[in-house]
Amino acid sequence: MYELKVRASKTYDITIAEDLSLFSERILPLVKGASVAIITDDKVMGFYGGALDGFFAAKRVIKIVIKRGEKSKNATNYLKIINALAENGFTRADTVIALGGGVVGDIAGFAASTYMRGITLIAVPTTLLAMVDSSVGGKTAIDLKAGKNLCGTFYQPSAVYVNTGFLKTLPVKEIKNGLGEVIKYAFLSDTVKREDIRDINAALIYKCLKIKRDIVEKDEKESGCRALLNFGHTVGHAIEKLSGYRLSHGACVARGMVYAVEISRRIYGLSDETVARMYALLTSGKHDLSCGYCAESIARQITADKKRYGDSVNFVAVKDLGKAEIVKIKISDIEKMIKDYENSFKSF
Ligand code: NAD
Ligand code: GLY
Repeated sequence: MYELKVRASKTYDITIAEDLSLFSERILPLVKGASVAIITDDKVMGFYGGALDGFFAAKRVIKIVIKRGEKSKNATNYLKIINALAENGFTRADTVIALGGGVVGDIAGFAASTYMRGITLIAVPTTLLAMVDSSVGGKTAIDLKAGKNLCGTFYQPSAVYVNTGFLKTLPVKEIKNGLGEVIKYAFLSDTVKREDIRDINAALIYKCLKIKRDIVEKDEKESGCRALLNFGHTVGHAIEKLSGYRLSHGACVARGMVYAVEISRRIYGLSDETVARMYALLTSGKHDLSCGYCAESIARQITADKKRYGDSVNFVAVKDLGKAEIVKIKISDIEKMIKDYENSFKSF
């Protein structure tokens, strides 16, 4: 078992275990009211919908189930959740449990943060992506027609319980999705190494979350260094949008990291040897790193991104593995560097 304490606007513990044997000890003391709402998606419901029931035998438990997938992270389901809480008489003393991947975590977190101006939230992530990233740090969101995550809050959970046992049923595609974020951490800190990525286990999840925890504690609301966690995301989000969300978040982040490396190469004049080490890491997740979108389309999407400042963005660039920094860069310069990268492989 691994544990981490997060000291942000709320102080809370993360437990990383291989089963649910520590759930009673670590979570139940935080569940004070009479009612618990387990929010999940239809697929997780099929596998683990009843997994927590035994712990709450003395409580009234309701289950709110949304359809699996990114398209469910919307205003209609948000209203469905908060209306279900209201119709079932939930008060601020009661608890919401987000049981699922990042989609469930983001929408359940947003509902918990706004229902009666904030109700206790416990995160029980079931995907690798949610275990290493989205369940910690307090970003909650729903998507709007105009774009992803455009409506949300910063709202820390009261606890996070990671059970790696849930990963046994996670399809390979979703493991790879999570590996996109794991590789991101290996770019941000040399505490996660390429060799570590071979074994997806509690130790690896702990290393990733420790990096995230340290950053969130310094900059909870992303006014500075938290933006480092967006490594690969500037282009990654653009590709995600261009694909109509057909490609998963982690798969797009993996492609986005290729561009981040190529843009870093051009900003800093990185040596071929440094870039080769970066590519060795990028390919360790066995992602399809090809991208079917041109520089102009990517630049157009970045221009539409909420993280743009005028004609520029704060871009996360890497001087070496474990040496990332935030640089303000014009979107037109990003476009030029992507074109230069495209031309470099066209000439082979
Ligand atoms: P997801 O929640 O859609 O889950 C992926 C699929 O796996 C779904 O079909 C789900 O039903 C299934 N699934 C979940 N757990 C399973 C299990 N144990 N066994 C079998 N199937 C299982 O996707 P995700 O990749 O977990 O999350 C992506 C979302 O997370 C995106 O909306 C992204 O914006 C968000 N995100 C948020 C943050 C944050 O800090 N809040 C960070 C990164 C990503
Ligand atoms: N996943 C990026 C963040 O939490 O800030």
